[in-house]
Amino acid sequence: MELQKSVIFELITKANDARQFAYTPYSEFKVGAALLLTDGQVVTGCNIENAAYGPTNCAERTAFFKAISEGNTSFKAIAVVGGKGPEPEDFAYPCGVCRQVMREFCNDEFLIIVAKSTEEYKIYTLPELLPAGFGGGNLV
Ligand code: THU
Repeated sequence: MELQKSVIFELITKANDARQFAYTPYSEFKVGAALLLTDGQVVTGCNIENAAYGPTNCAERTAFFKAISEGNTSFKAIAVVGGKGPEPEDFAYPCGVCRQVMREFCNDEFLIIVAKSTEEYKIYTLPELLPAGFGGGNLV
């Protein structure tokens, strides 16, 4: 599945904008995500840390859980932008837990855009970032 350049631009911009709401007093690593639903809506998320560390929620899962909790279960793509500075210096890849949450709700065509800026980004399919994954199909 191909994404239009304008859609990639919108997702990266919204992911970067969502970084401003990241609650990161411990790591100061601010991540924003913008999740594209199949109906064209975009749901954003940021990381939310906790003094007990474990309850910390990543930006990607914040976006997924916001969308799912409002009745949306069909997803096309997600953009992720992260870093300590005002502008990200490197690509921020989804952690293993977030990749597993994507596996639960997305098909093999789901696209993950990791971006430093609207000009500098990489696009992966979910199986590229989570090969030989474990999903509901393994339990039947
Ligand atoms: N983080 C994310 O938000 N997404 C990821 O996929 C990787 C890590 C957050 C969690 C924590 O608040 C901070 O980045 C440092 O690990």
